[in-house]
Amino acid sequence: MGSIDYGEKIPNNVHLSEDRTLQRALEQWQPNYLKWWQEVGPDGSRGFDVYLRTAISVDPQGWAQFGYVKMPEYRWGIFLNPAEKERKIHFGDHLGQDAWQEVPGEHRANLRRIIVTQGDTEPASVEQQRHLGLTAPSQYDLRNLFQVNVEEGRHLWAMVYLLHKYFGRDGREEAEALLERRSGDQDNPRILGAFNEKTPDWLSFFMFTYFTDRDGKFQLCALAESGFDPLARTTKFMLTEEAHHMFVGEAGVSRIVQRTCQVMNELKTDDPARLRAAGVIDLPTVQRYLNFHFSVTIDLFGADQSSNAATFYSSGLKGRFEEGKRSDDHLLKGSTYKILEVAGDQVVEKEVPMLNALNEVLRDDYIKDSVAGVERWNRVIEKAGIPLRLKVPHKAFHRQIGALEDVRVAPDGRVVGDAEWNANVAQWLPTDADRAFVASLMGRVVEPGKFAHWIAPPVMGINRQPVDFEYVRFN
Ligand SMILES: [Fe+2]
Ligand SMILES: [Fe+2]
Repeated sequence: MGSIDYGEKIPNNVHLSEDRTLQRALEQWQPNYLKWWQEVGPDGSRGFDVYLRTAISVDPQGWAQFGYVKMPEYRWGIFLNPAEKERKIHFGDHLGQDAWQEVPGEHRANLRRIIVTQGDTEPASVEQQRHLGLTAPSQYDLRNLFQVNVEEGRHLWAMVYLLHKYFGRDGREEAEALLERRSGDQDNPRILGAFNEKTPDWLSFFMFTYFTDRDGKFQLCALAESGFDPLARTTKFMLTEEAHHMFVGEAGVSRIVQRTCQVMNELKTDDPARLRAAGVIDLPTVQRYLNFHFSVTIDLFGADQSSNAATFYSSGLKGRFEEGKRSDDHLLKGSTYKILEVAGDQVVEKEVPMLNALNEVLRDDYIKDSVAGVERWNRVIEKAGIPLRLKVPHKAFHRQIGALEDVRVAPDGRVVGDAEWNANVAQWLPTDADRAFVASLMGRVVEPGKFAHWIAPPVMGINRQPVDFEYVRFN
């Protein structure tokens, strides 16, 4: 099951060689992909041999192999999880019908839009992270950055496969457009807001992989429920890789916090100025970065009330997180859900039809999941005997989409006026000075086993290799 013919140009478990038209379409897209990678992929990394994992099958026991790879030669492959026999659509108006193996005409436009929106995030994050290799705090971290980058590249391949295979001409056009948009570009930006933000330093990178890759997890989980079977099987396999990305983020922030706490105890101070002078990132700055990444990421789930979300669900295209484990009727016609709105000077709950609130349902599931890791960071602080705790801000804080757009809400959930917002925003969100300080710490550390001063080493290496393993050969 799922073994790959590496003699083929594009490793895959989808019998690509039996579909000449598709193979040719992908082989034509591939050089454009490589051109994109050279232009806006990892900066200055071309000749490096990087100790990377490559997906070679979908066998849960051994789906990946590790070895040195030059990144432009990474085998970006196409893998679908095995088909489930006689799989049925298990939510929405088509509940109980056979899952679709081809695109149903009536849902074609919506399905394409879902796939393009997901696909667009993958190259976007590679673009956002492209300069980080120049300031990696260690070889170990550099390797992890590159691992995330090549796998986001593979996720783009996964979506492009669906577009080429199932959407004909307009699918091919969308696949080209995925290589043409650029993160942060004025004229041709990436589709979603958070994917046009900068990821200028490694604290941002770890926050991004913790919070924003986790958005990816929840979107992929919702798509893994899809009635369109190839999409469900593709996204299931993508989730296997996604876990590592979130690990990189969680462990990265944890190691920063650990190092800061250590210096706080050595110097017996919590004064940010003294800690900064000692070359570590003070916890209030970590909190502000957290506030920023959390708030822009929860915006990615979309407006709290959305008729599109209702349509995607009712038509069987996009389920809820763990749809199969829920015990309601999977139609949700009479169900309601609580969303937030501002009434006077308060954020209050309001009950609305659940079908229209499915973005909010997914957002709330996401929030539950992301809070857990923040608690693990707090345990590091607690263990160091320091009373401060990190906290995710209120859901209404710094939102730019839906009913909470343009409302000033403090991290504790109080609606505030412009005056209070302006007086406090420098405590709530990273300032230019914060970013400049964090940037000032960034410098390349590339000797095996050495780590930048502001971050603790990891407990373990990758793939049971030692921490001081040569993860990158610079040649
Ligand atoms: Fe991804
Ligand atoms: Fe990811």
